[in-house]
Amino acid sequence: MYQKVYHQGSLENYRFLITGGAGFIGANLVEYLLKHNAKKVRVLDNLATGFKHNIAAFESNPNFEFILGDIRDLETCKNAVDSMDFVLHQAALGSVPRSFNDPISANAVNVSGFLNMMIASRDAGVKRMIYAASSSTYGDSKALPKKEEVIGKPLSPYAITKYVNELYAENISKHFDFHTVGLRYFNVFGPKQNVKGAYAAVIPLFFNAGIHNTKVTINGDGNQTRDFTFVENVVQANMKSLFAEIQQHEVINVAVGDRISVNDLWNYIKNISNSTVEASYGESRIGDVRDSLADISKAQQLIGYKPAYTVRDGLAITYDFFKKQAVKNEQ
Ligand SMILES: NC(=O)c1ccc[n+]([C@@H]2O[C@H](COP(=O)([O-])OP(=O)(O)OC[C@H]3O[C@@H](n4cnc5c(N)ncnc54)[C@H](O)[C@@H]3O)[C@@H](O)[C@H]2O)c1
Repeated sequence: MYQKVYHQGSLENYRFLITGGAGFIGANLVEYLLKHNAKKVRVLDNLATGFKHNIAAFESNPNFEFILGDIRDLETCKNAVDSMDFVLHQAALGSVPRSFNDPISANAVNVSGFLNMMIASRDAGVKRMIYAASSSTYGDSKALPKKEEVIGKPLSPYAITKYVNELYAENISKHFDFHTVGLRYFNVFGPKQNVKGAYAAVIPLFFNAGIHNTKVTINGDGNQTRDFTFVENVVQANMKSLFAEIQQHEVINVAVGDRISVNDLWNYIKNISNSTVEASYGESRIGDVRDSLADISKAQQLIGYKPAYTVRDGLAITYDFFKKQAVKNEQ
């Protein structure tokens, strides 16, 4: 991956801190930056939901550095951000169900940890902090497609934490002339996403079931729709946010601008992986939105973002990744 170039100029003069860099999206950002010769790529991660194997391939690269640490500790954040030009803040506890089960931890990591990173970045003179916001901020708003300025009430503790990030970022950025960009990711998928555990996302779960021909349960009737976004599109948005002309704070949708139902998603994955299993249906999950579709015109206008992968392009690449991983695990 990452043959395409999404940034302007050269990255050779810039040092990047990726929080949550051992996680799914963070490790993809690390891969892009190292492939395009960033001067330094430092990861801060406590491995709560990330994995050393996601970054093992980079450990021999002299431009790469890993710090095992927790964003809930301000001193750790200060040390990690020292001498960095840009911060790509991905560290958080994801998953709506996890946030209902443990809202205290979700708040501590996603809100206090976020604020620690933001204050540490501001005080260290970081040029810009790009952070992972979320489409969950649209909450109970029925409007489609989702435009950045029209949000509803959050439907979960996770969504609350992500919205609070935006409020802090806007307020602090404006008062201190510190540039931040919140990228509202819409259901991201791709290589390196975690397939295991109670909080795994739907696409890796479906691939796992498809490849191993094991049973799959769809929450609700499966007609709920999502603007599933291949991770390389997300990497593109991060890279294009680095140097774009922006106000002190912006919030930008990152998606494809297209949606498919969960039933269609399963049928596609079932076919591509030659599964013979029929899905069964369970209860809808509390806190889930019914439909999701992004208006991506702000991303296009402000940072020149143009999704390079449709959901089907991304699913084909992701299938190859999970298939290879499954074969490797069997050996
Ligand atoms: N994946 C999606 O569909 C999606 C959608 C919207 C927003 N997001 C956001 O994107 C970001 C990355 O998500 P992801 O899917 O890669 O999740 P992930 O769980 O794979 O990655 C998160 C990383 O953060 C690390 N982390 C967690 N708590 C930490 C702490 N206290 N200190 C240091 N590191 C910590 C984890 O170990 C992990 O490596 C998150 O902020 C998430 O909320 C993701």
